[in-house]
Amino acid sequence: MARGKFITLEGGEGAGKSTQAKMLAEFLRKQGHEVILTREVGGSPAAEEIRKLWLSQDEGYWDPLAELFLIFAARREHLTRTVWPALKRGAWVVSDRFVDSSYAYQGNTKKGPGPDIVKKLYQQIAGKFEPDLTLLLDLPVTVSMDRVKSRGGWNDRYQLKAAPFHRALRKTYLALAKKNARRIKVIDASQNAEGVAKAIAATVTKQFKLKK
Ligand code: TMP
Repeated sequence: MARGKFITLEGGEGAGKSTQAKMLAEFLRKQGHEVILTREVGGSPAAEEIRKLWLSQDEGYWDPLAELFLIFAARREHLTRTVWPALKRGAWVVSDRFVDSSYAYQGNTKKGPGPDIVKKLYQQIAGKFEPDLTLLLDLPVTVSMDRVKSRGGWNDRYQLKAAPFHRALRKTYLALAKKNARRIKVIDASQNAEGVAKAIAATVTKQFKLKK
């Protein structure tokens, strides 16, 4: 049995990743694949426990490096219990966020641990493994902040941040996409959900030569 494919969705707040991850999973199921829909931080029982523990506290409660270790402990659990076993048995895995989120959120701040440690930790827990495709749902900062406000959000530490934080996040994501152009494809997420889903389906079809 051929190994399955690992597809990750990334983006700032309000980009619609969760909705698109569900729609992509449906699209791939229609193509005849077994599909596991998962997320980070989380995606396995222990990793979901870590997520709860992590998000139960306000920003500043965790030492930034300790926080990064928590995220990576969860990621290792996610990989070993969920992602790798599924890929091995031929299933396709769609994950709402993965390591690029750590580069964007923990790797970009002046006070944060920075990208080098993110890279080192990732190599320790995952070696050379990486997603077969990453879809970056890109949105102008003003649109993303409006969307979060209108859905009555602001329930998450990062959604509460002001525009400069979101701008830095977007800049880091776009720089990652430029550096990893073969793996990361930028999707215009300012269109409606159907339009974004169409763009994603076209990208995935092209990348994996799926039937149209
Ligand atoms: P979610 O809203 O997409 O479920 O993600 C919850 C928060 O977790 C989101 O604000 C981004 C954050 N996050 C990180 O800071 N670092 C990471 O490595 C991951 C996967 C998520």
